[in-house]
Amino acid sequence: MDSSFTTICFSIALLLFLIHFLLKLFSFFSASTARKLPLPPGSLGWPYIGETFQLYSQNPNVFFASKQERYGTIFKTHILGCPCVMISSPEAAKLVLVTKAPLFKPTFPASKERMLGKQAIFFHQGDYHAKLRKLVLRAFMPGAIKNIVSNIESIATQTLQSWEGRSINTFQEMKTYTFNVALLSIFGKDEILYREELKRCYYILEKGYNSMPINIPGTLFNKSMKARKELAQILAKILSTRRQANGDHNDLLGSFMGDKEGLTDEQIADNIIGVIFAARDTTASVLTWILKYLGENQSVLQAVTEEQESIMRSKEDKCGEEKSLTWEDAKKMPITSRVIQETLRIASILSFTFREAVEDVEFEGR
Ligand code: HEM
Repeated sequence: MDSSFTTICFSIALLLFLIHFLLKLFSFFSASTARKLPLPPGSLGWPYIGETFQLYSQNPNVFFASKQERYGTIFKTHILGCPCVMISSPEAAKLVLVTKAPLFKPTFPASKERMLGKQAIFFHQGDYHAKLRKLVLRAFMPGAIKNIVSNIESIATQTLQSWEGRSINTFQEMKTYTFNVALLSIFGKDEILYREELKRCYYILEKGYNSMPINIPGTLFNKSMKARKELAQILAKILSTRRQANGDHNDLLGSFMGDKEGLTDEQIADNIIGVIFAARDTTASVLTWILKYLGENQSVLQAVTEEQESIMRSKEDKCGEEKSLTWEDAKKMPITSRVIQETLRIASILSFTFREAVEDVEFEGR
């Protein structure tokens, strides 16, 4: 009995020792493997500031091109307070976005995350993310936007009229146009009541999107965070007015407010600001590229002009007055649609996006 008890104790001790030894051995080898794998080439720039100014003080593509020329398609750098690795080869992009996607969580630099708000769709995965995607999509399906085509046309006409007699910066004008259309899609026809207030705050906010997250009076970040607070207050006012009126709305705010399980006011505000951020510069950039390509391709410009003019003629009534554009008209524009599709295919709209690795990831020996 005694001897078997001693044997059991000895076996357990040996087993524990073995486990301990194996764990030590494993951690030694994994640490030395990790040590052996070098980080990609590149430079981390200045402490904390890193290479933020090199990236944002010029066209980001110039930064990428010079880094790529020097270090290849994968290099390390330090942007907006985060050490990071930039990748630009299709193989590496596929690894991050497809084959090893679970190892990379959606993220943005701290400044942008705090300005958009933690509850915005971009920082989430799983059920909450899927729910938000559904609610956003619902507000941009044909059923929801077909009733605002004539209002979008009015915004376009007003924009064109405002250009008369002055030279313009196309991208800036497209940003104003897309901001107004975004507000219409989010708040419906009520948007006109809040347009100027929202515009004033949003324009201050966006100036700080790419700032260092230093929240002391006078910094860009501090001014933007104040504008962000004001935006949340305006949105709270809009929400409360809507709740009192108790009507049905087909717009994005209506979609968020109609969610059965109920989104909090903070979740609604973060996602409204998030959608303005996602929709505005991207769409303005596509529109700017379309104008550039049409300017360079006279025969295509002529074909698009003829298609648009023929729709306008078909809408003139007997007195010669034009009727507003409808959803049905928008479906009769095959050449215009092809120009949009081709522009989306060839133009570079988003230069880059962000992911955070949840654990060390090896790619091509680094
Ligand atoms: C043609 C213009 C647009 C382009 C090129 C574009 C491009 C993109 C890209 C590449 C992403 C993924 C970013 C990432 O995963 O890091 C994205 C996400 C997103 N975009 Fe757009 N976008 C455009 C217009 C819009 C518009 C008009 C809206 C308005 C609803 C919008 C709303 C969103 C949202 C909500 C997300 C996050 C989706 C998610 O996390 O599942 N985008 N967009």
